[in-house]
Amino acid sequence: MKIAIIGAGYVGLTTGACLAELGNEVICSDIDQRKINLLNVGEIPIYEPGLKELVRLNVKEKRLFFTTKIAPAIQKSEIVFNTVGTPLTPQGDNDLSAVYSVVDVFKKNLNNYKIFVNKSTVPIGISQKIKKTILSHVKNRKLFDVVNNPEFLREGTAIKDFMKPDRIIVGVDNKRSEAIMKRLYVPLVRASQPLIFTDLKSAEMIKYVSNAFLALKISFINEIANFCDKVNGDIKEIARGIGMDHRIGSRFLHAGIGWGGSCLPKDVETLINLGKKYNFTFKIIKAAHEVNEQQKYRVIDKLKKEFLNLRNKIIAVWGLSFKPKTDDIRESPAIAIIKQLQKLGATIQAFDPAAMLNAKSALKNNPIVYAGTSYEALNKADALLILTEWDEFRSVDFNKMKTLMRGRLIIDGRNIYNPQEIKRLGFTYYGIGYK
Ligand code: UDX
Repeated sequence: MKIAIIGAGYVGLTTGACLAELGNEVICSDIDQRKINLLNVGEIPIYEPGLKELVRLNVKEKRLFFTTKIAPAIQKSEIVFNTVGTPLTPQGDNDLSAVYSVVDVFKKNLNNYKIFVNKSTVPIGISQKIKKTILSHVKNRKLFDVVNNPEFLREGTAIKDFMKPDRIIVGVDNKRSEAIMKRLYVPLVRASQPLIFTDLKSAEMIKYVSNAFLALKISFINEIANFCDKVNGDIKEIARGIGMDHRIGSRFLHAGIGWGGSCLPKDVETLINLGKKYNFTFKIIKAAHEVNEQQKYRVIDKLKKEFLNLRNKIIAVWGLSFKPKTDDIRESPAIAIIKQLQKLGATIQAFDPAAMLNAKSALKNNPIVYAGTSYEALNKADALLILTEWDEFRSVDFNKMKTLMRGRLIIDGRNIYNPQEIKRLGFTYYGIGYK
């Protein structure tokens, strides 16, 4: 099928490359000429494992094209995916200006029947509003349909999440668009990965409620971990034990310094704010948000147990991205922790395998030392904080670390080490609900 992707960001690029891989002809467009120039020479402006190879292969096979000319891309396509960003404004609302600019180009380029597929995360009811906006311009109900197809991609595993989804949710309001979307997605559908058609509003809600529940689950296990710190409990044993219950499930029960990224924080805040608009309080989701706001500072509480004063202490930080396998530092707990440590007078020496460049711009007013390797960050350090669980931090040479560090304190914000082994090696170890 002929497809246009409007917005070559993290979701649009992954969606376009995967749909091309499935045999569709995909034109991926973006207003950012620099980004499109990079893509046209096979460079990928985001860090996503496997994406560069997938893009290059499909460009070579002439199934995937890049352009800044959005109107012709729409004219040549039957299905138009809107994958532009919907960031939060300082007031906590979703900025939908980019979405409406795509709608504007779409409604003016309906040279034949097309489907507008909204894949951007939009507040409840926006798909219906988009439909009204287009209809008021074209006057012909038969010339288009609007569909809502939320994405459930995780950074670092986006291709796998697209190609092997737990489920595909498609919000439709008539059989014609349903039949076309079924044709598009049938190559992905296997028995255990259903394609679910629902109404537009439910599709919008499913996205928010999914992310809110994931955030809830993480804050839940973090709260239990905080209690474990009081009673000397072992959060990993508890998570293992409860996770065996299929009604609970073992995933997203890793205690640590909390959730970040561009989605969970934004979607949780949007849902809470949506509730306010209807004079409704999401008590449980608000509580999850509050737990998460505080969770990142647990590592500082533990540091203060060892150092009454952090002034002039050298603190090594391993991990700046909000999670492994991404260079994304949006709402990363590590960035907030670094800023707080600097306020307390500490000197920071940091290393991250992928996120250093992004961290430099996020911390441009809070300069820190960026080490070339994880071991370099340990030079004369009084303590080491593990803030992102990159695989390369898991099997390190602890004896070499002892020759580099001035102190013997490790605070493991993601519980990646074995406390007994670390203590046997002569370190003082703190985990999150894990000793
Ligand atoms: C999330 C949703 O998983 C995805 O379905 C949605 O489409 C986009 O938002 P992402 O933000 O990429 O994906 O990351 P995710 O893997 O969900 O992790 C989110 C945050 O939770 C990260 O900061 C991660 O460190 C944290 N996390 C995750 C935990 O602290 N504990 C866990 O057990 C899992």
